[in-house]
Amino acid sequence: MTQTILKVNHLKKEFNDSYRVKALDDVSLEVKEGEILGVVGESGSGKSTLAKVITRLQNADAGDVFLCGENITRLKGNTLRKCYRQMGMVFQDASGSFDQRLSIGKSIDEVLENFTDMNEKERTEETERLLEAVGLKKDYRKRRPSQLSGGECQRAAIARAISVKPKLLICDEATSALDVSMQAQIVELIKRLAEEMNMAVLFISHDLALVSSLCDRVAVMYHGSVVEQGEAYEVISSPKNEYTKQLRASAFCIET
Ligand SMILES: Nc1ncnc2c1ncn2[C@@H]1O[C@H](COP(=O)(O)OP(=O)(O)O)[C@@H](O)[C@H]1O
Ligand SMILES: [Mg+2]
Repeated sequence: MTQTILKVNHLKKEFNDSYRVKALDDVSLEVKEGEILGVVGESGSGKSTLAKVITRLQNADAGDVFLCGENITRLKGNTLRKCYRQMGMVFQDASGSFDQRLSIGKSIDEVLENFTDMNEKERTEETERLLEAVGLKKDYRKRRPSQLSGGECQRAAIARAISVKPKLLICDEATSALDVSMQAQIVELIKRLAEEMNMAVLFISHDLALVSSLCDRVAVMYHGSVVEQGEAYEVISSPKNEYTKQLRASAFCIET
């Protein structure tokens, strides 16, 4: 039976700075192993907040996040650390997510050192294997982030994210800073890795056309709520929600 890797139940998160924003307003969704769920919506719709609450970079006000059946919403300390072995994250700013003073290899090595029992030689071999798995030459491990192109840096960030062999990979606008042909290559890479590693992927993007080329299912967010979700093909070919219709019209240049 296909296992549910991520289950998000009625998540709520408000910000109360100068005014009140419901960044997540009762969000529920799930992703199964090997499945790619696209989360799409305009800027400010709550997508990054969703990623941050799932990865516990922020705490939810209400609701639950289950990872492989375990409720991780309120985990702390060592138990939270353990659950990070099961999640990988890739952000828009790949270069900025690396320590600029360290080589790419050292950054990946640190993750392996933290989360596995490998010795130094095994970690070096594994780093080289990971770099090759994402389409980079193994001697890239000696380079600094500034010595990589945007696309290469994103590949290196993916290598680091999958180094813990996560059950869930979260990509938040991971291809948004790249040009179109590089975007397509990274999307192909994510698709291949999801299949090979049987990973669940939450692929967050403002770009419906891109999401539709990659994802099995799509959840459309608007003002903190999921207004529509379903099979990618159905959501895109016959959207039911008014906002999805608008998003589709602008993504595919269709007149409404
Ligand atoms: N740390 C924060 N403090 C106050 N408001 C925030 C914070 N993070 C996000 N928001 C607000 O929450 C809403 C959702 O933001 P975000 O999740 O970043 O959206 P998206 O990733 O879809 O662009 C926005 O209105 C944003 O201004
Ligand atoms: Mg965002």
